[in-house]
Amino acid sequence: MKGLFLTLEGIDGAGKSSHIDALEALFKAQGRQVTRTREPGGTPLAETLRGLILEQPMDALTESLLVFAARRDHVVRVIEPALARGDIVLCDRFTDATFAYQGAGRGFDPAVLRTLETWVQANPSGGLLQPDITIWFDLAPEIAAERLAGARVPDKFESQPVEFFRRVAAGYAARAKDAPRFVRIDADQSREAVWQQIEAALAERGLVASQSGGAP
Ligand code: TYD
Repeated sequence: MKGLFLTLEGIDGAGKSSHIDALEALFKAQGRQVTRTREPGGTPLAETLRGLILEQPMDALTESLLVFAARRDHVVRVIEPALARGDIVLCDRFTDATFAYQGAGRGFDPAVLRTLETWVQANPSGGLLQPDITIWFDLAPEIAAERLAGARVPDKFESQPVEFFRRVAAGYAARAKDAPRFVRIDADQSREAVWQQIEAALAERGLVASQSGGAP
């Protein structure tokens, strides 16, 4: 079977993480092998870099270089081998997050990010590794901030003001605009209704056999 690279994106508090278990179960129920992973992270080295990225203050170029260094290790050691085996790769965030957070959020030069993307995601056949499908949880930053408030100790990004997340959200919207791989999910709904949107989108693309209609 052909591998499938599926990513989950959205601003902090949009609720993407609460659907990963259900996605894994859905694909496994169809007899697929699932590699579940996240960014920054997914390998021992990349998880070490994640700790630095999420906790240490640094300029936007340093942050972008560390994010892409973590990504390179993750792509080479985990994502490409899993896709070559024919797995479904379920990845919590990928390069769209870099364009949204470092690019739009921090105002870093997207041309530099595109160069780094080309270096890090180039594959041996001359193409660029990109997700096959990106589930984008779209939620107003004010609502996401309410959901996050008091939930846990915020990391470096989660403690940014709502204005930062407005820019990040606009960054995601800009990236989704011309990319058919993006599936926009209206995340301002109950968890069950959000899940139904996800299942419907996957069924529509022929990625799951049929809709069970069940909630996670
Ligand atoms: P997140 O995926 O939300 O994990 P958790 O639910 O455990 O907090 O956190 C990762 C954070 O890293 C998130 O705030 C976005 C940020 N990030 C970037 O700034 N750039 C990137 O390229 C990636 C992948 C994440």
